[in-house]
Amino acid sequence: MSVHKEVKRVTVHVVQAMKMRGEKISMLTAYDFSMARILDAAGIDVLLVGDSASNVMAGHETTLPITLDQMIYHASSVVRGVKRALIVVDLPFGTYQGDSKGALNSAIRIMKESGAHAVKLEGGKEIEDSIKRILSAGVPVMGHLGLTPQSIYKFGTYTVRAKEEEEAKRLIKDAKHLEKLGCFAVVLEKIPAALAKQVSESINIPTIGIGGGGDTDGQVLVTHDLLGITKDFHPRFLRRYLELFDLIKGSVEQYIKDVKSGDFPNDNEQY
Ligand code: KIV
Repeated sequence: MSVHKEVKRVTVHVVQAMKMRGEKISMLTAYDFSMARILDAAGIDVLLVGDSASNVMAGHETTLPITLDQMIYHASSVVRGVKRALIVVDLPFGTYQGDSKGALNSAIRIMKESGAHAVKLEGGKEIEDSIKRILSAGVPVMGHLGLTPQSIYKFGTYTVRAKEEEEAKRLIKDAKHLEKLGCFAVVLEKIPAALAKQVSESINIPTIGIGGGGDTDGQVLVTHDLLGITKDFHPRFLRRYLELFDLIKGSVEQYIKDVKSGDFPNDNEQY
């Protein structure tokens, strides 16, 4: 008799129920099959195929250059590595702003061609038509407020957002609006912890913070930052769990030495 162990998938309803019972939601970025498999095996709740792939995978300075085709490639690789986690994919810059029909087409391409479960869009009221249209097709939408990296040239810097009262009020209004539109969750990036707490208490959908303190309903980090694959990036909100850049570099230096010296391969490492 084969013992088939059922894996219970994380759905948008599961993460909403987690907020209701006060259970924190864990989320990390993933862009490829191998890493997604490890993160899923560890029990991560949500995987974000973030447009931060533009920075950490492709080496661009901003998230703006990544294309829809590239996001679909990353997302489909992640989907093949995951059994349990909810997979959310960023709609890249230029595929949803000011064009709700284009937004729907972009979201449908992501869902059809990658097999992911939801999409994420940056912005509030100004993108409501795109959000409504995507939701009308039955595609779950995660919002993203605060520091929205696709608008970096409007902000000018990656510093903390909504420190002033006017911007904070607008952010709270936007969060409530996203909830009313039907978004299932919202990322709050780099805003004061007190504001993130206030937003989290004002809406019934989960808030996922990055640089928003400990009172959001969940936390997200860029996996490459958490593992120390990225170098020279030390924002206050980041906790590094490994220094993988140095570990990989050390291993490769040893491999190079072994090849040069003739130590590798040895008698047991050949046919
Ligand atoms: O693209 C990304 O990695 C993100 C997270 C920082 C939330 O949007």
